[in-house]
Amino acid sequence: MRHFTSVKDIENLPAILREAFEIKAQPFKDELLGKHRTMGLLFFNSSLRTRLSTQKAAQNLGMNTMVLNINEDGWKIETGFGVVMDGDKAEHIKEAAGVIGRYCDIIGIRSFAGLKDREADYSEHVLSQFIEYAGVPIVSMEAATGHPLQAFADIITIEQYRKVPKPRVVLTWAPHPRALPQAVPNSFAQWAVAAGYDVVVTHPEGYELEESFTRGATIEYDQRKAFEGADFVYAKNWSSYLQYGRILSQDRHWTVDEGHMALTREARFMHCLPVRRNMIVSDAVIDSPASVVIEEAANRVVSAQTVLKNILQSL
Ligand code: CP
Repeated sequence: MRHFTSVKDIENLPAILREAFEIKAQPFKDELLGKHRTMGLLFFNSSLRTRLSTQKAAQNLGMNTMVLNINEDGWKIETGFGVVMDGDKAEHIKEAAGVIGRYCDIIGIRSFAGLKDREADYSEHVLSQFIEYAGVPIVSMEAATGHPLQAFADIITIEQYRKVPKPRVVLTWAPHPRALPQAVPNSFAQWAVAAGYDVVVTHPEGYELEESFTRGATIEYDQRKAFEGADFVYAKNWSSYLQYGRILSQDRHWTVDEGHMALTREARFMHCLPVRRNMIVSDAVIDSPASVVIEEAANRVVSAQTVLKNILQSL
């Protein structure tokens, strides 16, 4: 594996899932693999889980880690081309990527969608500029359109808890006070289909995700119907892709509560976190034994370590 930005970078999903469970069982087996190698973690946006789990994964492999909050601790970065840089941005992404690539063997990038210009966001400009100019492998730590480390951890979690070979996995939109990107639901739907699950995506009309991410899933506008017989419920808010970045609904009937979960086949509840309680999910559900959100977050170390191990082996 050279770069990791999508499920398309995985050659054999069942094989890498087996590898992930080996790493979960023996996290220090490859503790010398990354000796004298450096992982740089660059954050254009906030993070708790990704920041800590990716550092822990790199350290389990013996790597050194360097973390930089771009635009806060470093110079503000200009990402446009041909710009007269007479504003507050002192450094261009071309030089920044080139320099960081000389300090690091692998670079993780977190750069969210701006939610103003769909074409710009879906071009993954920041990620692709780092791939072009850093000269070292790039790992997406959540970009504009995808969050593959999260989705990989989600699939590991489903494999850990599933009771049937082909579980019914329901991705449900839920209300939120702010407009959020589509990265997490895009990746979750794409990875869950790739894993061979029976995937249902449910949301109010107008919240359809970009079609290539949900190809192979069933779209169901009736949330209660979607929940019937579910083995896993994955809740997430996202803003509209069609009316790009807009909030079209804040309907609290979509908040996942005990009534919703009663429709399922004793489903496990999942969310990538952070989660707004009693907006996305009721206290009763997230605090119930059905909730696997903490184990799901724990599996972020496993997904990151599996990806970093594969990249290190290719250096
Ligand atoms: N799920 C996730 O990526 O969490 P953070 O935003 O805290 O990294």
